[in-house]
Amino acid sequence: MSRKITGATVVAGVAGHPVTHSLSPLIHNAWLEAAGVDGIYVAFSPPADGFSRFAEGLRGGAIRGLNVTLPFKETALSLADGCTARADAAEAANLLLFEPDGRITADNTDGLGLLGAFAAQVPGFDPKAGPVVILGAGGAARGAATAFKAAGAPQVRIVNRTRAKAEFVSGSLGDTGRAYGLDHADAALDGAIAVINATSAGLTNGGRLDVSLAASPETAVVMDMLYKPLETPFLADAKALGRRTVDGLEMLIRQAEPSFEAFYGVRAPAGVDVRGLALAALGAG
Ligand code: ATR
Repeated sequence: MSRKITGATVVAGVAGHPVTHSLSPLIHNAWLEAAGVDGIYVAFSPPADGFSRFAEGLRGGAIRGLNVTLPFKETALSLADGCTARADAAEAANLLLFEPDGRITADNTDGLGLLGAFAAQVPGFDPKAGPVVILGAGGAARGAATAFKAAGAPQVRIVNRTRAKAEFVSGSLGDTGRAYGLDHADAALDGAIAVINATSAGLTNGGRLDVSLAASPETAVVMDMLYKPLETPFLADAKALGRRTVDGLEMLIRQAEPSFEAFYGVRAPAGVDVRGLALAALGAG
């Protein structure tokens, strides 16, 4: 890397726990270099119970901003002085900006990332065209559900192992929401235009996701928010059934684009193969 750190270098970064394997520094720094922007993007790993202390210490603009990842997204929103409507709806923030006057503002670009990934990998996909199924009822699922609702999905079906949590999330979606237990997944999949895995099954100790996609229409698009490996067992099942798929890496890249613009004031440059860089890093473990 030939970039120099100067007196005017704008610093931003990502905070998570763990964060070492985050692909965001690779993506943002590739864009910075290609755009010739005097900026840098680094990773921070506050202790799991120490995010508030860490972020409060940045008030006043020690750095320009932060992307926030697990497990800090809810805390990030709660300590902000103001937030966008989409962060409010998702009840979580993946982007904090530290204003010079000491204010912290919060946004959530995960929904843009999710919908952007569908648009990129299934051109012509229309979120308004029919019911959407979200598997899971945690923070990731809530974010996906609110993004699809905002994009005009006529019905958002929340399917969760613990049905009470599915009911809680679907209740927050008003008339658009429906709740199902995992044992009634087939009914939820009936007529769906998209099926999104937002569970943590497949992550360390997450266990296996016991859902068959056979009951989904042949035209349904199947997406997994997890991307390690890029073709998760869930996406492999979808492909074996001939379903079109969207991967979580594309969502990561698409949520990074508006973050980059917020931090550095210019659009992420086109023509940088950040996906190729990220795939190489994933392949290297
Ligand atoms: P996040 O904030 O990343 O969404 P979370 O709040 O821990 O994480 O939520 C994890 C989700 O994955 C939950 O919906 C969980 O189901 P339960 O509510 O029943 O716990 C779901 N999940 C995790 N492992 C699962 C598995 N093996 N099968 C099905 N669902 C699973």
